[in-house]
Amino acid sequence: MKVLVVHGPNLNLLGRREPDTYGQQTLEEINQMIATEAAQADIEVKFVQSNIEGEMVDAIQQAAQWADAIIINPAAYTHTSVALRDVLAAVDIPAIEVHLSNIYAREEFRHHSFTAAACQGQISGFGAWGYVLALWAARHIVEGESGE
Ligand code: DQA
Repeated sequence: MKVLVVHGPNLNLLGRREPDTYGQQTLEEINQMIATEAAQADIEVKFVQSNIEGEMVDAIQQAAQWADAIIINPAAYTHTSVALRDVLAAVDIPAIEVHLSNIYAREEFRHHSFTAAACQGQISGFGAWGYVLALWAARHIVEGESGE
């Protein structure tokens, strides 16, 4: 099973970006954690981080050629991007939306996600652990396994 993990804008700053909200781990450390979990579950993962909406759209379009599932933290584009919503709807691959913080416990403008409706589901508020939960969700969706 193959999974694309897409990280949106400013997530390259994790570790030093508002650590009280987003945690102390760098993106590299988070990706390492995801890669370790994925390897144990025999899941192949590729990572993309971009601060540019169009690059994220391109990565998702290309994933249609090879990926079984997408895990995406669209970051600020969650709350603005019709283009990301449309590409997630266009590709025939299940996607899981992840947010480190609980977006519903924050400012009002973060409560609405344009992208979530084009995803299978959303995981919000569990920090980096949310990506591991998303891996299990992806496996369950793609392989119909309980993860046991
Ligand atoms: C975020 C939440 C978004 O509202 C914010 O713009 C981010 C990160 C999260 O992971 O909690 O950049 O997606």
